[in-house]
Amino acid sequence: MDKPKVVLGVSGGIAAYKACELLRRLTESGHDVRVVPTAAALHFVGEATWSALSGHPAATEVWESVHEVPHVRIGQSADLVVVAPATADMLAKAAHGLADDLLTNTLLTARCPVIFAPAMHTEMWEHPATQENVATLRRRGAVVVDPAVGRLTGVDTGKGRFPDPAEIFELCRRVLARGDRALTQDLAGRHVVISAGGTREPLDPVRYLGNRSSGKQGYALARTAVARGARVTLVAGNTELPDPAGVDVVHVGTALQLREAVLKAAADADAVVMAAAVADFRPTVYATGKIKKRDGQEPDPVTLVRNPDILAEISSERARPGQLVVGFAAETDEVLANGRAKLARKGCDLLVVNEVGEHRAFGSAENEAVILATDGTETPVPYGPKEDLAETVWDLVVPRLAENRR
Ligand code: CTP
Repeated sequence: MDKPKVVLGVSGGIAAYKACELLRRLTESGHDVRVVPTAAALHFVGEATWSALSGHPAATEVWESVHEVPHVRIGQSADLVVVAPATADMLAKAAHGLADDLLTNTLLTARCPVIFAPAMHTEMWEHPATQENVATLRRRGAVVVDPAVGRLTGVDTGKGRFPDPAEIFELCRRVLARGDRALTQDLAGRHVVISAGGTREPLDPVRYLGNRSSGKQGYALARTAVARGARVTLVAGNTELPDPAGVDVVHVGTALQLREAVLKAAADADAVVMAAAVADFRPTVYATGKIKKRDGQEPDPVTLVRNPDILAEISSERARPGQLVVGFAAETDEVLANGRAKLARKGCDLLVVNEVGEHRAFGSAENEAVILATDGTETPVPYGPKEDLAETVWDLVVPRLAENRR
């Protein structure tokens, strides 16, 4: 099979040096990458680096190798164009169809999915001109990744940071995996809230009650939603996973903190997906100092109280009309029967039922499930990557959201 053809467009910002890592990951995982830097980008990282890492010459102008008509051919033959970093100037040119160098020409001739990973100072990102350009590009089907919040060039901090190149790479893979379907951003204009990972219920400052959730399924839901154009808020319990590109991540510890963060984010959400493993109980008493051993004495028993059921709460009190709520059910026995009963009990629209056990679901990159809907449909999802299950969840959410809006 031919290697997927990726065009890496690089515009002139300091984050150009981070695009080298993205390029390396793309080539090492079997993609044929043509780098098209702008003239400004070459001030930050030179042609030699791009051609050595990609194995192709890196041209900037349309006047080089004119007989090969590069300004048309590179865009036409690409399976994916990713512009990383995308400056405010590049977003403006792309939104208005300007074409004064090889990269902007390539953007006009490309018929494949296009990803922009903007990086700039907060003021430039927040400027109405930039925001309108971003909205235009999104409306036309491009994936524009919201920049991360953090350290910018110099001493500044704020929104505008280039996301982790490893996460931009994951997004490229997701978009490529969707093929032609990636040309339609079916979650564009939607805000989705996803909870992920396990909560920890503290006994004292050093101990907690927890569970074995890795967060991978919720993170896969977040990544796939970004690839389909959604604005994503991820409320993350304890996980080791890096923040996905383009996602607003709210880190929480306990079930009560998770509830507060989900309810806040759900206020304007089109869909809420509760993939988190929320602790059903928490210790009745939190010891503010470490619980010590006492010679000759048995430890005090740990007593527990119920945590609120967040899924049931957001299902019964929808923050806005037509909001769609999706739950997960982890079952060890009578999987389907318990799942059907749980769907009715929780009051959500869809319930993803999966069997859990020693070596199933938790911590694994794969999953297998049946998705139950209130209209009685049952969609089996065969054993496979958690991203596949995530895509099926969105496939079921999208038409239901459209139905609810009518
Ligand atoms: N959930 C929640 N709040 C809780 C417990 C669970 O919102 N306090 C959500 C989970 O995020 C998941 C769903 O409810 O989407 C199902 O969780 P599960 O543990 O399977 O169900 P339980 O309600 O705990 O029921 P049971 O213990 O009887 O299996």
